[in-house]
Amino acid sequence: MLTDKKLRIAVMVSGGGTNLQALIDSMKSGVIHSGEITLVISNKADAYALTRAENAGIKAVAVTRKEQGDNFEKKIIETLEENNIDLVVLAGFMCILSQDFTDRFKNRIINIHPSLIPSFCGEGFYGLRVHKAALEKGVKVTGATVHFVNEIPDGGEIIMQKAVEVMEGDTPETLSTRVLQNAEWIILPRATQLVCEKILRNEI
Ligand code: GAR
Repeated sequence: MLTDKKLRIAVMVSGGGTNLQALIDSMKSGVIHSGEITLVISNKADAYALTRAENAGIKAVAVTRKEQGDNFEKKIIETLEENNIDLVVLAGFMCILSQDFTDRFKNRIINIHPSLIPSFCGEGFYGLRVHKAALEKGVKVTGATVHFVNEIPDGGEIIMQKAVEVMEGDTPETLSTRVLQNAEWIILPRATQLVCEKILRNEI
């Protein structure tokens, strides 16, 4: 049986943070009820996502490679540990994490990717580049994937996917907006809740 216990979730971001906003809204609506976002970490000091976190009363910190140099990941790990984080959600976090990092948090890091993995994923496929590649290939259906993070970029076990139609005349920007609205903002909160439940049941 599930308890009322809520896991402590950290969301890691790099940019505008619309997925972070979807997660915050889903805590309020109850879609996420087995976890609570208690920390937001950005690798960009000027990311609007940090403002979204502050507006929601969530602790927000910037940890940048510029300031930390070789200590970048070490500083993130320290910050996660100091804040007793149980689950890390990468929501538009545009850095590849080392194997040392991913091994340390096995089955405790999930990521949203804006395509149907295994298409248009891996190193170099991020943000609008993903949608540009999908349009160049001429696919008629794309979508989004939430997956566990391991040492292979976008290579961890798939948790949830949702398909989205490509429309005639789409640009990377119009396609990105449709994938965000019709897939990412829906499956990221649902997958986060699902993974919290599995952790609480000691299934993973
Ligand atoms: C989202 O589309 C997310 O899937 C993508 O970056 C965007 C961030 O938007 N992530 C990647 O491409 C990771 N490989 P947001 O800051 O508005 O959530």
